[in-house]
Amino acid sequence: MSGNEIREKYLAFMEKNGHAIVPSSALVPENDPTTLFTGSGMQPLIPYLMGEKHPKGVRLTDSQKCFRANDIEEVGDNRHTTFFEMLGNWSLGDYFKKEQLRWFFTFLVDEVGLDPAKIYVTVFAGDEALGIPRDHEAVSIWKELFAERGIEAKDVFIGSEEDGYQVGMQGGRIFYYDAAKNWWSRSGKPVNMPAGEIGGPDSEVFYDFGPEHATHPVYSKQAAHPNSDSGQFLEIGNSVFIEYIKQEDGSFSKLPQRNVDFGGGLERIAAAKVGQPDMFKVDLLQNVVTQIENLSGLHYEDNLVAFRVITDHIRGAVFLIGDGIMPGNTDQDYFVRRLLRRAVRYADKLAIPAGKFALLAESVITTYSAHYPTLLTKKAEITEAIAREEEQFRKTLEAGLKQFNKISLQIHVVSKEVDGKKVIDKSVAPVAKKALSAQNAFDLYTTYGFPIELTEEIAAEQGLVVERAGFDALMEQHKATSRTGAEQKFKGGLADSSELVIELHTATHLMLAGLQKELGTHIHQAGSNITGERLRYDFTHPEKIEKANLERVEMYVNDAIKAGGEVTIEIMSKEKAQADSTIEASFWDRYPDEVKVYTMKGSDGAIYSRELCGGPHVQNLHDIRKTFKIIKEESSSAGVRRIKAILE
Ligand code: ALA
Repeated sequence: MSGNEIREKYLAFMEKNGHAIVPSSALVPENDPTTLFTGSGMQPLIPYLMGEKHPKGVRLTDSQKCFRANDIEEVGDNRHTTFFEMLGNWSLGDYFKKEQLRWFFTFLVDEVGLDPAKIYVTVFAGDEALGIPRDHEAVSIWKELFAERGIEAKDVFIGSEEDGYQVGMQGGRIFYYDAAKNWWSRSGKPVNMPAGEIGGPDSEVFYDFGPEHATHPVYSKQAAHPNSDSGQFLEIGNSVFIEYIKQEDGSFSKLPQRNVDFGGGLERIAAAKVGQPDMFKVDLLQNVVTQIENLSGLHYEDNLVAFRVITDHIRGAVFLIGDGIMPGNTDQDYFVRRLLRRAVRYADKLAIPAGKFALLAESVITTYSAHYPTLLTKKAEITEAIAREEEQFRKTLEAGLKQFNKISLQIHVVSKEVDGKKVIDKSVAPVAKKALSAQNAFDLYTTYGFPIELTEEIAAEQGLVVERAGFDALMEQHKATSRTGAEQKFKGGLADSSELVIELHTATHLMLAGLQKELGTHIHQAGSNITGERLRYDFTHPEKIEKANLERVEMYVNDAIKAGGEVTIEIMSKEKAQADSTIEASFWDRYPDEVKVYTMKGSDGAIYSRELCGGPHVQNLHDIRKTFKIIKEESSSAGVRRIKAILE
């Protein structure tokens, strides 16, 4: 059973049980400034978990694309990946524990075909200080479910993860853990939750791959227990009973409705199905692994870390670029860059010839295109961006590595001469780890484009540790002075909401409509950045635009301003908007289920622009009272042009 099949089976099973299938939201959250990436299935649904009505009803299911940036450095073992798909189902104040636990268990055993004897579960032990009780209800449901399969399920108290190593499994099947383990919110355990955050006790399901797969270092001396990132037990699903909201005074009160938030790792369930715990052997990732074997002539089993890093990072980059995030130096963009640059170095380790990343990206797209058709429509854009980043980094990588060696030779005393060249003598183990200075790491970043984890990895290979805190401080300074730093992040590409910025934003919509009218509907937004002085707009178009065309676009915008009609806002379902061919949108995937459509009309009712947007815009086109002027048209990247324009 392939990963793709498990995904479809799950969605069909949930649909049969009354759930509406909703599309995955984008990896970049809309209207959620608290986080860079979508890291769980519930994230796009928070307003609905808090009581807002969802247009699709009270039972929803999906397979959500997730990206966990914090896991970049963990990638290399058999189970950590940055990108993954989370199978999800939600009760928005509808069903609760009884239905949820039965459905998931039935899905695993009857639909996927897992052996129930290899399934272990955990529940919330309760927390007196919070006044939240032990989850007896979940325990009795689990006992019944296991009994139906002829398994007597004993419940055992564990407490904390540390306690688990002392007390062990004790013949249990159902285990009670504390709030650090069996409570879920976006910010983790109750004490870490800010006021206003929602969460609740959860019940996790683990698959037992057998003690021979235990990789946890303490296992040799201490007892095994399920909730411990052990390598033996893998969490394959988590049912969160979201019924609490944190108050300003630190206490918890009940939400107006009791919700279920379920999330299950697709690749993990697939790994359980084949009975081996290596995520990279699941067919969804296997295609890339095989491709790397072909390109390098090496075996996966002999080069686990390099294969896993390349596979994970290429897949992550494909999905991020597919959601409109291009490799760059700020915010989300920088993660795409880091993934690809780190992958380049590992590709070098395997001696994969230069210029092959596009092929690897293609195998990801082929694997996933049936469920994510946008990957296919954006195939050229994705593979080209990946190829470009590979090529660009290769230009500086070699020089950077030379510089790196120079620095480390200065730090290391132990060097030797080979063919008249000074090299590090690796036969002599360094007495103590020596430091690579923060400034050196920073220079490697600014001059050679080395992401910090790359520098740390190379440093470690040479017996050096990077002064990370100092490096982070230098980066902060660097960001603060470079205007596009995290703190000054443009909201929807706008520097602020001053009058001129808003006017330029409205003019941007008119300009896009003008460009499409003049040159064709292949033109879509690729990026937008507006300050109080000018608009800067990137859009898809293959070649330089003639002056005469640009003049007609200017005329279109100025006619609209003169025609001076109302700018109206309609709120409608994304589905309806998508079906209406008069509405322009560049990133359908990025929008929530309900969208805002801005229509700009002349006073005679003629429509000048109709586009999805978050606003803000002027109320009436004649409010602009200025002349629109294009001051520059140039190439931005392959297939993308850039216009700078002003209102004067
Ligand atoms: N939101 C829950 C999780 O991410 C299901 O584990």
